[in-house]
Amino acid sequence: MAVQRIDKLLAAMGLCSRKEAAAYARKGSIAVDGVVCRDASQKIDPDRVCLTFGGQPVGYQEHVYLMLHKPLGVLSATEDREQRTVLDLLPGVYRSRGVFPVGRLDKDTSGLLLLTDDGALGHHLTSPKHQVSKVYHAVADGALGQADVDAFAAGIRLRDGTQCRPAKLEIRSVTDGKSDVLVTVQEGKYHQVRRMLAARGAPVLTLERLSEGDVVLDSALKPGEWRELTAQEIAALRYEI
Ligand code: URA
Repeated sequence: MAVQRIDKLLAAMGLCSRKEAAAYARKGSIAVDGVVCRDASQKIDPDRVCLTFGGQPVGYQEHVYLMLHKPLGVLSATEDREQRTVLDLLPGVYRSRGVFPVGRLDKDTSGLLLLTDDGALGHHLTSPKHQVSKVYHAVADGALGQADVDAFAAGIRLRDGTQCRPAKLEIRSVTDGKSDVLVTVQEGKYHQVRRMLAARGAPVLTLERLSEGDVVLDSALKPGEWRELTAQEIAALRYEI
């Protein structure tokens, strides 16, 4: 990690503004290796020294990477005047850091949503050039069969004429005219899975994203809960691009 000004570091972490950092430093709230530092413009290497703020060690991370179990009824956006967004489910420090959702899930879709403040990674993961596989669990109103599996493999043409890339449809069960399926796609068109299944005459009743690349929704997370990605999960995402 490069040497950085303390006020810039604390602001980047969303702990306070740069101006506030100067005031905290004057009050004696900042220490470097146990020695009070009254000058917030001092430069340190956060990997080599122990920075504390209000007595608490500051674990500086250049970027944060989160997985959220997105619940139904919440927008995949950073803000909205009327409706709750996924940012409202996270501690305020993440908003201050500029965390944003990587791609979107519809308001009525639940499941894995990645969030980060790493613009480069976010851009790569959503770029059509990088074909990251996303797996969805859907229940659809209609009895799907082998002809639908074949149509997905060939590439579905949506009702508006849009051609989708080949995708995988796995039928887990069909009961009372409803199909329980897994759909794997490598692109992210608007309402894509819903429109693909609708094109086969089986509108989606419920939709949940299970995984993105090698990152799988943590079954310990209830809807609305989140956690930071592990180092392995971050590495797996980087490997995808
Ligand atoms: N496809 C959809 O139709 N909706 C989503 O939220 C994600 C993929």
